[in-house]
Amino acid sequence: MRSTSRRVLVRCARQVGKTTTTSVKALHTALYQPASLVLVISPSQRKSDEFLVRVRSLYRASGRPPPIAREAASAIEFVNGSRVISLPGTEGTSRGFAGARLLVLDEAARVDDDIFAAVLPMVGSQGAIWALSTPWGARGWFYDLHEGDGAAVNGWERHLVDVHASDQYDERRISDTQATVSRFVWASDYLCEFEDADAQLFSSTAPAWAAPWRRTTCATSPAGRWAPLTTRSWSRCAHSCAARRCPPTHCR
Ligand SMILES: Nc1ncnc2c1ncn2[C@@H]1O[C@H](COP(=O)(O)OP(=O)(O)OP(=O)(O)O)[C@@H](O)[C@H]1O
Ligand SMILES: [Mg+2]
Repeated sequence: MRSTSRRVLVRCARQVGKTTTTSVKALHTALYQPASLVLVISPSQRKSDEFLVRVRSLYRASGRPPPIAREAASAIEFVNGSRVISLPGTEGTSRGFAGARLLVLDEAARVDDDIFAAVLPMVGSQGAIWALSTPWGARGWFYDLHEGDGAAVNGWERHLVDVHASDQYDERRISDTQATVSRFVWASDYLCEFEDADAQLFSSTAPAWAAPWRRTTCATSPAGRWAPLTTRSWSRCAHSCAARRCPPTHCR
């Protein structure tokens, strides 16, 4: 919550307070920075709206904040001109905003690379991006941004809150949970490790030739043109930046 970084990655265990904490950040931004735009994106509209429910409940508990001017299931507008808007993680519906002061990506690991690329330009030059998630396998932009060691890489400040670091879990809850879930779920959802999916034939460290079906398209390529991927989703693009290893945003 005290971070002033404009790019924040939070890799968290289940139920440690990701949504609650970022709801506070979203509400604080809207109330203390008049006329600010806060965008919330989750894999589905229902989850994004759930985030707004959390924001509303914090708002009601916060004493005498600026009144709400307008509100709907997916938007709150305050009299100070600030808006908090929830969007589904689907292409098309998530376009059309600009200059956001804060972009929250909740359950970020499940937000597709394409959506991530599409929403990045919506953040203003002074805006911040907070991406929070439990890992979801060794794939996708959220995983890629965790490549390399260090607390901050490529401008992204990283935080890790696994089950042992969270006050939401005491020793008993930890042992009960570990005894209940599978090894894969424990490693991924509670120890926050980027596990290869059990059903994955080749590991994520396999060479590119071993996984030729892992392909994606470039948004600016002609329809039907495929861009061959390396084993990582930050890949070679068949478009203008061909032969360069780049994040999906580079060629859009
Ligand atoms: N700082 C906190 N202190 C006490 N309780 C908290 C705190 N943050 C969250 N909680 C409680 O913990 C529970 C989980 O919170 P929240 O839904 O924000 O977690 P999450 O990490 O987003 O969960 P999920 O993994 O299911 O998305 C809720 O009941 C919430 O009220
Ligand atoms: Mg949550």
